[in-house]
Amino acid sequence: MTTTANNPPASGEAGAPLGVRGGVWNHHHVLDLDDFALPEIEMVLNLADRMREVLDRRIARVPALRGYTIVNLFYEPSTRTRASFELAGKVLGADVISVNSTTSSVVKGESLIDTVRTLRAMRADAIVMRHSLSGAPYLAAEHTDASIINAGDGAHAHPTQALLDLYTIRSRIGDLRGKRVVMVGDIAHSRVARSDMWGLTALGAEVVVCGPPTLLPRGLKASDRPAHAESALPPVTIETDIDRAIEGADVVMALRLQSERQQGGLLPSLREYSRLYQVTAERLSRAKPNHLLMHPGPKNEGVEIAASVAAGRHSIIEEQVTNGVAVRMALLYLLSGGSGLSGDPTGEAR
Ligand code: MLT
Repeated sequence: MTTTANNPPASGEAGAPLGVRGGVWNHHHVLDLDDFALPEIEMVLNLADRMREVLDRRIARVPALRGYTIVNLFYEPSTRTRASFELAGKVLGADVISVNSTTSSVVKGESLIDTVRTLRAMRADAIVMRHSLSGAPYLAAEHTDASIINAGDGAHAHPTQALLDLYTIRSRIGDLRGKRVVMVGDIAHSRVARSDMWGLTALGAEVVVCGPPTLLPRGLKASDRPAHAESALPPVTIETDIDRAIEGADVVMALRLQSERQQGGLLPSLREYSRLYQVTAERLSRAKPNHLLMHPGPKNEGVEIAASVAAGRHSIIEEQVTNGVAVRMALLYLLSGGSGLSGDPTGEAR
């Protein structure tokens, strides 16, 4: 999805050097990875390395975002993403509040635009937003000069999950170029899969998506791709046979069935789906011997992933969660750019 909303406001300071080595940051919002250049992705990942050091300190607190206000605005359930943003902000000394859509004025009919404007009127600097409608954060970004961070919009995008996935893979295997990364499951309804496709291909990985034909998005095959489609996805290999997909994989990522976004009739039965597409130890024996197993969570063990492999020695699922905090710290820091934050974001004094 392209938009002009991600450009920093003409008067804004985003784009100014931040004292972060390796380039210039040009984003006022984080809406998806399709408009991230490779150096920008690398900048986030490099900064996340430094944030990870902060997180691993005995007292993980620095004042880099003191005076910065972050609002979590979630119209859909979340455990990891929401808590992770909250922690990321707090570790950096920001004020973080959460607005629950079921107990806010949203239930009285307040529109998304009004809600976002109201939060900005209270001086929110960043609004972390999750919504069931694809494109909702883009709409919000058109109507506020607060930074909008997409924490998941419908089946469209989940850029911060993709960045933490990239960070986690990179921290384990280094250069992703030529590495075979296989995503298995409900690709059609997964915003994680879409954002991961952009990020992984930008870093040069060979991306394979695998699932039953009814759970693969239309427009993924090169032959189906309209020449100038805004919704076009990057080139990936499509595989409906899980054993062939996993053969030689460096990384296998299991994805949940997004039943909240599916219409009926896509699967004969859950049992049949698990039989054909569950990531099991037997299937993983076809991957490289030192492969990594990932899952963005929440997991449905016994459906898309066997409990034994989820807790097994190749699993880096919990590492993804920890790294998610560091990556979100990096993003918040970059988005706050220009407000006197140049220098060392990990230091005690400003
Ligand atoms: C999401 O919000 O998309 C999650 O991180 C993945 C899922 O719900 O399966």
